[in-house]
Amino acid sequence: MESVNLNSPRAGGAEKKKIDVVIGTRPEAIKMAPLILELRRRARASVRVVATGQHSDMLNRALEYFSLVPDVNLSVMKDRQSLDYITASVLRGVGELLDSNPADVVLVHGDTTTTLSASLAAFYRGIPVGHVEAGLRSFDMGLPFPEEMNRVVVDRIARWLFAPTDAAMKNLRNEGAPPERIFVTGNTVVDALRMTLDGDSAPVGQDMAPIMDGAPFILMTAHRRESWGAPIERICRALLRVLERRGECRALVPMHRNPVVRDSMRGILGGDERIILCDPLDYPSFVWALANCRIIISDSGGVQEEATALGKPVLVTRDVTERPEALERGSAILVGTDADLIASRADRLLSDPSEYDAIAGRCRLNPFGDGYASARIADVIERDLLV
Ligand code: UD1
Ligand code: UDP
Repeated sequence: MESVNLNSPRAGGAEKKKIDVVIGTRPEAIKMAPLILELRRRARASVRVVATGQHSDMLNRALEYFSLVPDVNLSVMKDRQSLDYITASVLRGVGELLDSNPADVVLVHGDTTTTLSASLAAFYRGIPVGHVEAGLRSFDMGLPFPEEMNRVVVDRIARWLFAPTDAAMKNLRNEGAPPERIFVTGNTVVDALRMTLDGDSAPVGQDMAPIMDGAPFILMTAHRRESWGAPIERICRALLRVLERRGECRALVPMHRNPVVRDSMRGILGGDERIILCDPLDYPSFVWALANCRIIISDSGGVQEEATALGKPVLVTRDVTERPEALERGSAILVGTDADLIASRADRLLSDPSEYDAIAGRCRLNPFGDGYASARIADVIERDLLV
């Protein structure tokens, strides 16, 4: 076999292959960071981090923790941006970038509009796409919206389908995806957690005082488009009801930067001294909160996986989830957005130790992986691309 110096341009003077990792939002940054670091550590290909800037500070803060800086930032975000706007500006921006400086492969993650548009831009130029977190399905095109459509389309485009779990792999097989394109790798969010849990990263600041005296606290997040307006308001009212019933409890609510979400939350939860209504936490502080809270109430995708990995009960304020593994493990409970139902489930968990203990506790076999998904993904890309 030919001997190649892997850290310099390939033998014979050929350039290293170029991999563009395109990310746009906070969860894409957190879940792609371990893969970017792994590919760069191996140094067999040249890895360019392309931020679309669908998120601005939330994306940059997430990258910062992993000491990553985008090589390119399209900075598309604007206040209250529409789906049309993000789709068109990311498609055009990534397309122009690939025209002026082509890549050999484009890697995308999950189901955001960045994921969809970057995949389309690569597809239009015949550049193969690798889809990390492929195969998740709610089987309802409207839930979550528009993410279910995004992931279905990207999975049709992608050359490599990196399915985090067997269930995701089966979804892809059932849709007729060629088996040789599917790889079950685990979810890179567990890699990110593994890299983060070692530190003691409690959030700092006077405003955190209510949860720093050991009081049990509820961690709550909400941001999904289908939750905007009345559903988020019901979720907030549910939190107030739980706090009324459980006088010893506090709540930590790191608000998404979206003004639509913040206006609703501030209107209902603002000014309550039992509730810390704060800006998004940096990733290690949020992981600290996940590990130290009593229960979680969230509509987030990534939080369902992290809660399961940590064995922390999470009430999922949605009607369906594309992460059935979390439900099967028992750590996640679908509660929809009815205030009474959310409040009574939360109250039961907080007041009944036997119900709580049946769910809580670190997961012995985490269905989302072992924390080494990035290495498996990098192995496949190297095998197929760097021959
Ligand atoms: C997006 C994704 C969603 C993902 C979520 C992760 C789509 C359609 N939605 O939803 O799948 O779960 O990210 O958080 O791709 N904003 C800021 N600063 C930021 C980020 C957002 O001010 O750093 C505000 C802006 O006003 C922006 C708004 O939030 O217009 C909404 O951002 P957008 O990316 O459109 O939607 P998300 O709800 O964040
Ligand atoms: N997260 C964070 N700070 C916060 C809230 C969440 O770092 O204040 C992280 C969280 O650990 C998870 C990711 O953001 O990894 C989830 O992002 P989000 O809920 O915005 O998107 P989703 O996963 O629903 O697409």
